[in-house]
Amino acid sequence: MSKTFYILNGPNLNRLGTREPEVYGTETLADIEAKCTKLLETHGINLKFCQTNAEGELVNQVQEAADKACALILNAGAYTHTSIALHDALKLLNVPVVELHLSNPAARESFRRTNYVAPVATASICGFGALGYDMAVTAALHLVKIKTAQ
Ligand code: DQA
Repeated sequence: MSKTFYILNGPNLNRLGTREPEVYGTETLADIEAKCTKLLETHGINLKFCQTNAEGELVNQVQEAADKACALILNAGAYTHTSIALHDALKLLNVPVVELHLSNPAARESFRRTNYVAPVATASICGFGALGYDMAVTAALHLVKIKTAQ
C-alpha cells in the first residue's frame, strides 16, 4: 500500500497569513505544511503538499493522487464552488478524500453554498481555521485504517 498522503490546496491559499486574516487566520501555508509533515512522520507516512492557483493543475494533482496516494485532503478554495472538472477528477479516487475549509462556507455568502467537492468526498471538515488541517490528517488516518481493515 502507498504510504503517501496528498494535501492539495487551491487558489489564493498561498496567501494565507495575510489574506483576510479575520476569516482565515494568521498561520501561513508553510506553517501548516510543517505541522502536517511532522504529524504524519510520527505515523511513518510521507506527505506531498501542494498549492496551485490554476484549475487544470489542481485536476492534474488530483489525478496524480488517484494513482499514488493512500488518502487525499483537499482544500480546493473557490474551485469548490465552481469546478465540475475537479468533481469529475475526484471520482477517480479509490481512497479516502477529506474535503477541508478553514472557514465555514455554509455560513458565508450564498455563492459558497454551491459545492462540487462535498458530493464526491468521504468526509468534510470546515470552520476550524488552520486546526482543520491537523483534524483532517487525523481523520484521514482513521479512514485509511478502516479501509485497510475491510
Ligand atoms: C476556503 C473557502 C472558500 O469558499 C474560499 O473561496 C477559499 C478558502 C476555506 O478554506 O475556507 O478560498 O476554501
